[in-house]
Amino acid sequence: MPVRINPSILAADFVNLEHDLQRISSADLVHVDVMDNHFVPNLTFGPQMVGRIQDVSPIPLDVHLMISDVDRWAPGYAELGAYSVTFHVEAATDPVAVARRLRQIGARAGIAVKPGTPIEPYLDLLPEFDQVLVMTVEPGFGGQSFMPETMPKLTALRDAVNRQGLDVWLQVDGGVSLDTIGIAAAAGANTFVAGSSVYTGGDPTDNIAALRAEAARHTH
Ligand code: DX5
Ligand code: ZN
Repeated sequence: MPVRINPSILAADFVNLEHDLQRISSADLVHVDVMDNHFVPNLTFGPQMVGRIQDVSPIPLDVHLMISDVDRWAPGYAELGAYSVTFHVEAATDPVAVARRLRQIGARAGIAVKPGTPIEPYLDLLPEFDQVLVMTVEPGFGGQSFMPETMPKLTALRDAVNRQGLDVWLQVDGGVSLDTIGIAAAAGANTFVAGSSVYTGGDPTDNIAALRAEAARHTH
């Protein structure tokens, strides 16, 4: 099973973003955290900025929407050319309709769940999605601690994906580091978002390689 490492530019230098995008060119996708100071108590950037990131990024975009009213706003990110657009089920009135619209535009469609949100209601809907993001921290900020109590959701997802013969990517986001990535890989994740552990301390290329190797070691 392939392992994907998606660095989060939430931990990058926003004033030197083009440079910080080049530093992660060995990664699979660049994780772009869109926050609206409403769905989460933090604010990052919107479509105009994501469009410019799309223009200059050496690797495709994995957009993570932490915004309200995704039915209205999510399709615009797919129209910008993002490779994948992931929205929170807590913020969508009709997740399947949003996912279908994203796929129709040409993006991979992902749903995300906060740590307290159960995954069971979505297990029968998996063919509608290309990716499921299990948040391993409360969304909103980088640099928080990985919550191992979210792992049963990944185990349930991995079982359901395999049982249904699907290739839905299972992603984790929050507190992913060399100390925790193996826990998520062992539980069934194959796509790993990492902000602080890629950009802080050492060279991003080396950090990406180390995370990739550690994830692969625990993948089965
Ligand atoms: C948090 C964001 C994450 C964040 C992860 O709400 O969705 O993508 O950048 O940061 P780290 O890896 O530092 O926990
Ligand atoms: Zn994220």
